[in-house]
Amino acid sequence: MMRIVLLGPPGSGKGTQASALQQRRAIPHIASGDLLRAHIADNTDLGRRARPFMDRGDLVPDDLILDMMAARLVEPDAQNGYTLDGFPRTVAQARDLDQRLQALGHRLDAVIYLRVPEDELLRRLSGRRICPNCNAIYHVDTMPPNQKDICDHCGSALIQRQDERPEVVRNRLQVYAEQTEPLLEYYQSRRLLHEIDGTIGVDRVLAEVAEAVGRASQQVAGEHRT
Ligand code: AP5
Repeated sequence: MMRIVLLGPPGSGKGTQASALQQRRAIPHIASGDLLRAHIADNTDLGRRARPFMDRGDLVPDDLILDMMAARLVEPDAQNGYTLDGFPRTVAQARDLDQRLQALGHRLDAVIYLRVPEDELLRRLSGRRICPNCNAIYHVDTMPPNQKDICDHCGSALIQRQDERPEVVRNRLQVYAEQTEPLLEYYQSRRLLHEIDGTIGVDRVLAEVAEAVGRASQQVAGEHRT
């Protein structure tokens, strides 16, 4: 049972890696951005409140996110571990997650930081296409679908996300630097952080992520023995 957080700037490959981990190790992929986009598509109260923040590339306020994630993390499929993608994203969110886990006698096993330079992030985000139905992720040059603009998994028409406009992407990167980067220090000081070069190709990144997760699970097993 593993509880993993994937950390990294927009476009660093969090969703790509979490989805691959879900397929390989049967660890549910829980992405706050996907949950929010589903609320927007369903026109829920949360979706209507979150949308203006997302359209600008700002963070959705912590109270909305914390309620949404608390509800998601008590669902049955999350009881045997998960990979979190996009959450936590502020120190307040990280503290809240720690407290919830502690109350249940649980804790995080590993925080994986995907390091990617800004010019590569801009290239990736401008060419990304996603499936609005099953959330599969593609890139027009480096990870194209078999049939142009059609999802390999469910056959839906691929789309470009609303927050992919250049000025919004610039704001998302700045917001990441200001509000999410402090989490690197937060998790480093708790000895949970594993830093990985996120530029080396999807399969090699996955191998490194799997190795870091394996090391963390051995460490947890060792602590249980002592
Ligand atoms: P969210 O949906 O979480 O977006 P993000 O963090 O900005 O990250 P992305 O989904 O853009 O990128 P990714 O790292 O998953 O990369 P991907 O795998 O797709 O958040 C959106 C918005 O929701 C936020 O701005 C905020 O408003 C709100 N929000 C969400 N969570 C929140 C929270 N906790 N608190 C407050 N607000 C919140 O890959 C990108 C591209 O690169 C793809 O095309 C992929 O094919 C390609 N690629 C991936 N890996 C590689 C590789 N190794 N080599 C080459 N190409 C690669």
